[in-house]
Amino acid sequence: MRNGLPEIEGEFSIRHAVLQSYMTGFTLTKNLSLDIADFYSLHDDIRTLTHTRKVAEEAMRIANLYGENPAVLEQAALLHDISNVIPVTQMLQTADELGIPILDDERSYSRIIHQKLSKAMAEHIFLIKNSDILNAIECHTTLKAQASLIDKILFISDKISFDMPGEHLYLLEIRRCVDDGNLDKAVLIYLDTIWEQRSKLKLVHPWLVSAREELLHLIKNT
Ligand SMILES: [Fe+2]
Ligand SMILES: [Fe+2]
Repeated sequence: MRNGLPEIEGEFSIRHAVLQSYMTGFTLTKNLSLDIADFYSLHDDIRTLTHTRKVAEEAMRIANLYGENPAVLEQAALLHDISNVIPVTQMLQTADELGIPILDDERSYSRIIHQKLSKAMAEHIFLIKNSDILNAIECHTTLKAQASLIDKILFISDKISFDMPGEHLYLLEIRRCVDDGNLDKAVLIYLDTIWEQRSKLKLVHPWLVSAREELLHLIKNT
């Protein structure tokens, strides 16, 4: 026992007993790429692993384009969806048990909580301490105002890595803006697309709304 909580696999312990069930049979090797593959295999979620690898590849490519550290983006991308192994029906309860602050809006659409849960799992299961990585994971679905370059790269890499049926012209435009060095414009195109569909969506997250307002203001004044 350490800090009143059970120890798992020698040096590797988790702070929150509530996450223990997701740890059974898993051991960190300190090679994150292998650990992520092991984690998703253990939870029989190869679909998310495949998506995760695509996001990591894209995030490293964009990091290199924008002079950001590709190793940091790779770690953030590999970890961004790890809470997908938690059933959606248990996400809200798990977040409450972990003491994660949850907005009222999020309580009505608990899937959105996965970004905060992934941050907590990155910290407590994968022992990530880098706040740049943790912060980017926490807002990878919604973004937020005053987002860092790392936040924006992870956010847009996630969006352009989804395989969606049909042609999505806005995604082509986003990719073009990213490659042309206009990351803020690319992010705004995505946020505008969500905003235009707001009447059909279960939730337009307040972080997304404030990120969009900030970027609109920024781009209008440059
Ligand atoms: Fe996600
Ligand atoms: Fe994702």
